[in-house]
Amino acid sequence: MKLHLFIILLSWCIGSSSVAQDNPFAISEAGLDYLTGQALFEKIWVTAPSSTRASDGLGPLYNARSCAECHFQAGKGKLPAALTLRINSDFLGQQIQSSAIAGLPAEAQVELSYTSIVETLSDSTEVILKKPHYVLNYIQTETGRPERRQTEIEELSPRFAPALFGMGLLEVIPLQELLDKEDPKDHDNDGISGRAGPGRFGWKADVINLEQQTGKALSLDIGISSELFPNPFGDCTQLQDYCLSRPNGASREDQNLEIGPPGFATLLYFIRNIPLPVVNVNNMNTSGKEIFENIGCQHCHQIGYMQGAINPYTDLLLHDMGDALADSFDNELSREWRTPPLWGLSSYQENDEQYYLHDGRATNLLEAILWHGGEAEAAKLAFKSLSRSARQDLINFLQSI
Ligand code: HEC
Ligand code: HEC
Repeated sequence: MKLHLFIILLSWCIGSSSVAQDNPFAISEAGLDYLTGQALFEKIWVTAPSSTRASDGLGPLYNARSCAECHFQAGKGKLPAALTLRINSDFLGQQIQSSAIAGLPAEAQVELSYTSIVETLSDSTEVILKKPHYVLNYIQTETGRPERRQTEIEELSPRFAPALFGMGLLEVIPLQELLDKEDPKDHDNDGISGRAGPGRFGWKADVINLEQQTGKALSLDIGISSELFPNPFGDCTQLQDYCLSRPNGASREDQNLEIGPPGFATLLYFIRNIPLPVVNVNNMNTSGKEIFENIGCQHCHQIGYMQGAINPYTDLLLHDMGDALADSFDNELSREWRTPPLWGLSSYQENDEQYYLHDGRATNLLEAILWHGGEAEAAKLAFKSLSRSARQDLINFLQSI
């Protein structure tokens, strides 16, 4: 992983070598793009029209006012702010927006509650797992239409904001290297049948590249239009006319997109270059690493792309993870999730608030592993029967990568 960081830093240095020689304090052009992109990532969007034109266009419906609100310091988010609910509704669109600009009601407030499940490990340690439940409290528009707003949302797919470290490295892995790891019919009979989704980003591997993902996030999560998603109303549907009548940031003479191509490119540059946390390979728990490999975790959490240059601990493929993790979408994908990368786990300290899995339900690594089911059932069972010290070694290993 050090190597990746090194490559990124190296590419900055190459771009800036002459400047750096003239003035050792100068920031290279690439470094400047990174910082400007980071500022856009952290920028708080405001309602249009406003005097700060470059920052207006928020909403009308939105989940958050900046990228950083959900991806805290480009890492994971926190619950409940960084949780979005995907839906499939003619009326409310693709996602519940729980905020709206002044004068417009948000779509729904989401109430999160949990039921407990006790898991017992082979050394009789008991672990309490919390299964989340979501209740949507719909908000009435001032013009009424409660009957339509109450459209029962039965299909819900909760999605928690993942860390964005190393995204640009995941993007450059050649597609063939991922397809080589597919085994949709489980020909090798190991119980694991990964298959490629339409893309490699998002919890359902449904977004093809970081450009699409950035455009989609701007539109769905913040309500900002860009070249790829030019509708300034974001996720307001044609049926939400009370939403479509609001001002937006694109109706001015000088601009028809709320973020223009140069700003978008700079934000994308930042996303592509977010470095991995620096790890000390000497601190890696080697016996934990061996256990990780021996009990089958690495079947899905794979390393060694591009001759070993990229080691994210994911195959970026979709796996059936069992009923306990399934969402309630009525399709064949409801039990399937893309293996998340495990690199960067070292950035979470033992005492930090931690959130793992697609909906952030697990508050530590032990819980995250115990939720594994479906194709990962065998690895989970092997984990449950480890001795206490072997289990701790494995967790220490995860915290060292
Ligand atoms: C309201 C919270 C929220 C905001 C705001 C938000 N994101 Fe996200 N982000 C998410 C969630 C949730 C996912 C996972 C989406 C999915 O799986 O479908 C995600 C996924 C991503 C991914 C893909 C990660 C992966 O591992 O595949 C990228 C890249 C990303 N967001 C960038 C951005 C950028 C850039 C912005 C600002 C323009 C932004 N996000 C704003 C919640 C948010
Ligand atoms: C069949 C493939 C598969 C196997 C085998 C597997 N995992 Fe996973 N792992 C996944 C998927 C898919 C997820 C995401 C599931 C979700 O969010 O609902 C995940 C999530 C995780 C997470 C949470 C990461 C995060 O940032 O939220 C950790 C930690 C993890 N796995 C560790 C392990 C360990 C340790 C093992 C071995 C005991 C293992 N996994 C075996 C596929 C697998």
